[in-house]
Amino acid sequence: MSKPLPPTLRPQTRILKGAGAPAYRGGKAVNPPVVRASTVLFDTVEELTDMRARRHEERLFTYGARGNPTGFALEDVVADLEGGFRTKLFPTGLAAIAMVFTTYLKPGDHVLIADCVYQPVRNFSETFMQQFGIEVSFFNADGRDVAQHARPNTKMLYVECPGSLVYELCDLPALSTLARANDWLLVADNTWGSGLQYRPLTLGADVSVMAATKYLSGHSDVMMGTVTTTEKAWMPLARMTDTFGMNVSPDDAYLVLRGTRTLAARLALHEQHALKITHWLRQRTEVARVFSPALPDHPGHAIWQRDCKGTNGLVSFEFARNDAPMAARFVNQLALFGIGASWGGFESLATISNLVTTRTVTDWSQANPIVRLHIGLEDPEDLIADLEQAFAACG
Ligand SMILES: Cc1ncc(COP(=O)(O)O)c(C=O)c1O
Repeated sequence: MSKPLPPTLRPQTRILKGAGAPAYRGGKAVNPPVVRASTVLFDTVEELTDMRARRHEERLFTYGARGNPTGFALEDVVADLEGGFRTKLFPTGLAAIAMVFTTYLKPGDHVLIADCVYQPVRNFSETFMQQFGIEVSFFNADGRDVAQHARPNTKMLYVECPGSLVYELCDLPALSTLARANDWLLVADNTWGSGLQYRPLTLGADVSVMAATKYLSGHSDVMMGTVTTTEKAWMPLARMTDTFGMNVSPDDAYLVLRGTRTLAARLALHEQHALKITHWLRQRTEVARVFSPALPDHPGHAIWQRDCKGTNGLVSFEFARNDAPMAARFVNQLALFGIGASWGGFESLATISNLVTTRTVTDWSQANPIVRLHIGLEDPEDLIADLEQAFAACG
């Protein structure tokens, strides 16, 4: 119970001073509470000063902008999932990625970026990093030409593995050996792997980023990014995140935490449904190629088998005909697939993948239109029937 208020206090003051502390006793809720706070109160000036001085090294609740207990609970779940030291949370996946570049690079440095990164990373490199004197080179997403692009001022190697349109894989342990030999920081976008199917920090990466917007949240109703690091890489990120005032609301942290509870169960179903549709697509005469790292003819299949625990709901395919309007008609014709950005929610989505403008090292100009499907939790037989009627309508 909270301490009784002195009876001399007047009503207006009583309203403000009451209900500051939990007014109940008993058991504990299963989940951590949503702690909404800007100001955080201390008993003494000395305690406030002391905690502020130690807040980067230790997990201390000192001010709403520096993190809150609901977010801390999520950070711990993500750090454990990723096999890392600690995690910071960001308002979007892209904000998390931008903070990683901003933390570890400075003008005069050079960064090597995998050709398969999702387009806004390329945009960030062109419109921000290069403007601030950070040099950028792109390398083949399978990592074969990394050494060729290295420069004396290279400081970071950034991969997205697998890529999120046609799922290119690189040999992360081999790149880690190369990075260590040259003192480069190895950063991986692990949104595809979600910490369950792929764990870059256990394969030699120093930093792993996830768009928790996708599978961790899982319900298409919240935006968030996570950055998890090794102990060695932690302090610069912790300090720069505070410098930028980056944080997430406790309500959003609660939603993502809630999503993580069912991550394994959802991913298992996404994978099962997507594999069924992958094999069905392979039989279709309208389809030239199906892209999934789980297929033996995918160029990254051997690495996927070695480094990943499974796949997810993403599968892409290339039409047999080079007819862009027909591909658009196909997507428009689908009744059960939403048309929209993102993936990782419970629902199925279809988008046309533009590999020509999102890749610069590999040339996709000869490819026919490619559609990326995110296979959701609907009954896969219904999804197959929907795909079938769309193919028939576009025939
Ligand atoms: C691979 C990958 N990384 C990062 C992001 C960025 O996430 P957000 O949409 O939360 O900014 C996305 C979003 O599509 C993505 O596909």
